[in-house]
Order: sequence, then structure tokens, then C-alpha cells
Amino acid sequence: MLRMNSSELISALEWRYATKKFDPSKIIAPEIWKALEESLRLSPSSYGLQPWRFFVVENREVRKQLKVASWNQSQVTDASHYVVIAYQEAVGEADIRKFIETTASVRGVEPSTLDRYRNVIEGDLLTGTRSKEIVTWSQRQTYIAMGFVMLSAAMLGIDTCPMEGIEAHEYDRILGLSGSGFKTVAGVALGYRHDEDKYALAKKVRYPASEVIRHVK
Ligand SMILES: Cc1cc2nc3c(=O)[nH]c(=O)nc-3n(C[C@H](O)[C@H](O)[C@H](O)COP(=O)(O)O)c2cc1C
Repeated sequence: MLRMNSSELISALEWRYATKKFDPSKIIAPEIWKALEESLRLSPSSYGLQPWRFFVVENREVRKQLKVASWNQSQVTDASHYVVIAYQEAVGEADIRKFIETTASVRGVEPSTLDRYRNVIEGDLLTGTRSKEIVTWSQRQTYIAMGFVMLSAAMLGIDTCPMEGIEAHEYDRILGLSGSGFKTVAGVALGYRHDEDKYALAKKVRYPASEVIRHVK
């Protein structure tokens, strides 16, 4: 398997920045876009439950409406692609059953061989302490996918901007999510930086490793 070396990784991480101004004339090629969608789908989640939906908003009119609901941030309409990330509001027995059955079928085993795993998940998410914080649990999973797609994009030379400066309720209304069991948590704009985006040259502001990384010996 081809892997980038550590200095290539660091340069991709340094190259990435939250793009404020996208070049609307530059569009991500379909095969690259497919890979970026896969980076969302292949993201890990707690127990593997994937409590999310990713809405790739292709409709220009809808993109315009979302921009208004995003403090008018131009990334929503100027970027090549715009993805709305939604989290699952509640997890029930049926979700866990679906996941166990999918796992059994993909891996060619009897669902009953996964009974212990099912019990652990149910004991945690349906009856345990986490059952009272499913919304935050679910939202946390979606941010992993957001990180995955941003890093994947950077490795492919695609710019991104994570977007939390949005009115999530308005997004839900515009996308017709009411009653779907999913709610908007954030957006991600993807495309190519505009030559005039001065933020591309701004130095990264990060606290030193000596402050944020602690080696516990
Ligand atoms: C969850 C999240 C939400 C963000 N929301 C916005 C946003 O709505 N608009 C924006 O321009 N930048 C947004 N940012 C970008 C951050 O301001 C930016 O990542 C941070 O200042 C660090 O800069 P850098 O990403 O360019 O290194 C967001 C970042 C994250 C991680």
C-alpha cells in the first residue's frame, strides 16, 4: 500500500487552512469527489453504528438559501461542493438490530454470534448512562467524519472549510429534515482556494507542542 511519508503529511496539514474564499470556477473532478464521499462513509464511529447522514447539496438554489442561513458566508455557494453533516437524533433497538444484521451478512456469520456485542451496545446506548446523552454522542461521531474528509481533501490538494457558523434549525427546514430522525450539525465546503484569499498566507496559530502534548511517563 502506498503511504505518504511523515514530511508529506506535515506539509499537507500545513497547506490546509479554513478557506474563506473559494474560486467558484474550479470544480472538483468526479473521481476525486467520489473518493471524498468515501472518506465520509469510511469514517469510524462508536461501535461502528454510523449515526449520520451526509447531504451533498447539488441544487444551486438550495445552496443560496443555505448561505443566508450561514451568516452569509460565501463558501457555501462559491465552493465546488457543499456537504451538510447531520447526526441521528435517537438510537433505538431497530438501529442496533440493523447494524448487527448488516455486520453478520457482510462478514458471513450468524447474527447470534454477535449477541454479546449487541448486548454491550444496548447496555450502553439504550439503558446505560450514555442513553441520556445520545445527541452529544451522535454529534461527536459526526465530527470524526468531518475531520476525515478535511484531511483526505488536504492529502488530495483539495481545500475545505468546516462550517459551524450556521443556523442549524434553518438548515433542517431548508433540507426538509423534520421527521427524518436526523438534524444538521455542521457543513463542510470543499473546492479550490481563490488566488485572492489572504488567509492562505496567514501563519497558523497553534499553541506549542510543549503545551498541548503531554507525555505521561
Ligand atoms: C467545527 C468547526 C467549525 C468552524 N466553523 C467555521 C465557520 O463557520 N466559518 C469559517 O470561516 N471558519 C470556520 N472554522 C474554521 C476555524 O476558524 C479554523 O479552523 C481555525 O481558526 C484554525 O485555522 P485553520 O483551520 O486555518 O488552521 C471552523 C472550524 C471548525 C473545526
